[in-house]
Amino acid sequence: MYRILQNFIYLLPLILFLACASEKQDVETRNMDRFIDNLMKEMTLEEKIGQLTLYSSFMDETGPFMNEDYLDYIRVGRVGAVFNAYTTEYTREIQRIAVEETRLGIPLLFGYDVIHGHRTIFPMPIGETATWDLEMIEQSARYAAQEATAEGLNWTFSPMIDVTRDPRWGRIAESSGEDPLLASLVGRAKIRGYQGDDLSQPNTMLATAKHFAAYGFPQAGRDYHTVDISELTLRNVVLPAFKAAAEEGVATYMTSFNDLFGVPASGSNFLLNEVLRNEWGFDGFVVTDYTSINEMVPHGFARDDKHAGELAINAGVDMDMQGSVYHDYLEELVDDGKVNEETIEKAVRRILTLKYKLGLFEDPYRYNDKDREETMIMTLEIMDFARDFARKSVVLLKNEENTLPLSDDVRSLALIGPMADNQRDMIGSWSAAGDYAKSVTLRKGLENRLGTNARINYAQGTTVNGTDRSGFSQAIAAARNSDAVIMALGEEYWQSGEAASRSDISLPGVQEELFDEIIKLGKPVVVIIMSGRPLTIGNVDEKADAILYAWYLGTTTGDALADVMFGDYNPAAKLPVTFPRNVGQIPIFYYAKNTGRPESEIKFTSKYLDVPNTPLYPFGYGLSYTTFGYSDITLSSDQLPMDGELKATLSVTNTGDRFGEEVVQFYTRQLVGSVTRPLKELKNFQKIGLEPGETKEVVFTISAADLAFYNAQNELKAEPGAFHLFIGASSADVKKAAFTLLSK
Ligand code: BGC
Repeated sequence: MYRILQNFIYLLPLILFLACASEKQDVETRNMDRFIDNLMKEMTLEEKIGQLTLYSSFMDETGPFMNEDYLDYIRVGRVGAVFNAYTTEYTREIQRIAVEETRLGIPLLFGYDVIHGHRTIFPMPIGETATWDLEMIEQSARYAAQEATAEGLNWTFSPMIDVTRDPRWGRIAESSGEDPLLASLVGRAKIRGYQGDDLSQPNTMLATAKHFAAYGFPQAGRDYHTVDISELTLRNVVLPAFKAAAEEGVATYMTSFNDLFGVPASGSNFLLNEVLRNEWGFDGFVVTDYTSINEMVPHGFARDDKHAGELAINAGVDMDMQGSVYHDYLEELVDDGKVNEETIEKAVRRILTLKYKLGLFEDPYRYNDKDREETMIMTLEIMDFARDFARKSVVLLKNEENTLPLSDDVRSLALIGPMADNQRDMIGSWSAAGDYAKSVTLRKGLENRLGTNARINYAQGTTVNGTDRSGFSQAIAAARNSDAVIMALGEEYWQSGEAASRSDISLPGVQEELFDEIIKLGKPVVVIIMSGRPLTIGNVDEKADAILYAWYLGTTTGDALADVMFGDYNPAAKLPVTFPRNVGQIPIFYYAKNTGRPESEIKFTSKYLDVPNTPLYPFGYGLSYTTFGYSDITLSSDQLPMDGELKATLSVTNTGDRFGEEVVQFYTRQLVGSVTRPLKELKNFQKIGLEPGETKEVVFTISAADLAFYNAQNELKAEPGAFHLFIGASSADVKKAAFTLLSK
């Protein structure tokens, strides 16, 4: 008794503190609710519908059509949010109209696609993910929010957490790749980075989990195409990242353009009301993607726009992006008895709540601070971070006989190819307010690194697209006159991203012909590829001495690449997506199932006649300038009780001669299930740094919750039985152990 009392006295300050904090929060919530109740009492139905309407300004264009009258609509209280507008001056003026010229003075939200940085552009999301560095990913979103909020924005349409297994689909560039766990963790990190832990801070902003849902599975990789996947795939592969976003407290969701189970996402009661709100308890608001309510008409799901509006609001869509459907028809729909006013009120409340949490009612101009705009953008600190983040995104795919890093003794370098001195493509697609004129090209980065110590013989050779071979001879001459050759090849920035699907994902134009000509000279050739997707690069893989996959690295591209090429930084990135050998293998991903006839030398097994089943590079793959040795795995037990834990331990040794980082990956396989299960599932990973000769023990803990999956009854459960457990350097290079999950 005395002991309990002693503990109580000891804990009393903490208990009181927590009680006061929660009391304070209750008071704040009550104040907020009261404020919103009072405001909503004042609002006409037309003004309420105004809050559900989002229009694009004329500053940027991210979709098919613009609404001419949006400023006039703001004046009469018929707009709740604006996107594609930034800079303090521009947004302040629009906000002024909303606050000073409307009857109730409700401030606007300002949204924008701040996808991989705002002014300072970081690597494309697929490249960011290749770092497997969640702290840096979070920090990049933090800096993006710092810059964006300094320019009037308070809402980003990011993170995009669409899992995808199809590199033909251009939006793979904006994604975190093919794995549900990786997408969940990256999504969470970005949400934390954007939103911080207090939305009322002037440097935090609302995040958006998009595109809800299954947009990454369009048939044949064609953007906006039909999606037809099983509910098992939906629950186990697509939804985990979206569920994680809800758990992380993401403020908003954006619906996707596609249909799913025959229902366009913006009319999907199942996705929005049942899954998102009822199952996951999401209490923020849902915005559509650009005009996707209207698109339910061509989808063949709504008779006309008015019908589409009825379907959308009743399915749980709160805000209409750019489509004017709510604006034009919601009032009529209420009069016709097709939509309850309470449904509209719920949506309005969700939107006003977030405006309140951002602090907009207290100070509508809190994101319009000229001082911050002048001092918080593209700072030295952000630029240094960007360079480090960029070099950490570069994947070393091949390095024969240590061609890389290049020696400081090199006296002449040929720099060839259309991506070598090209500023625009460096910042990739969805580069927000990024100014490509500020991006450092590879040529500039090498000049910065080498100064007068070496001669750079630059020749563009050809363009990215087209058939111009007139520069080949100059490129060949440059290669002949140099000690080593660097070729920078790839896709232009617009060849991935939205509305940028390709049926042939090889290097465009005559770049590969140029490569073949240069290879014939017999000099060591390092190829750097810049692209938003995995390209089919079998020929380059076969012949080049070294390959760096650089995605689009953003503003600091050239400096970051020079760091990697000269070994100032030792690459450690790993592929977040499988690289196919050819387009015919797509979809190809590590999370595949065994089939009833797994590949063997026997004819009637699951394989191709003309290409192996294996990819060119597997998920999780990436080399370093050093090498790592993996010991065998030791398990704390080969039995895992349902409510217990199991530890898998192994040691990793740096067997080379320089410091290096390694992403140690942990996978499992359930051998028999109530439904068939994948051959491997990523469950965890750790990024470790090792000095030459150093050994570190890596421990992964696993419990039944990690093994749970959605079964055919849509229950999230772990099933007792035999499992394999793998730890390794990629999904295809692992050590293996076995254990049994017990029923109790
Ligand atoms: C894209 C979204 C984007 C929106 C607003 C759409 O076309 O699909 O990802 O957030 O435009 O720019």
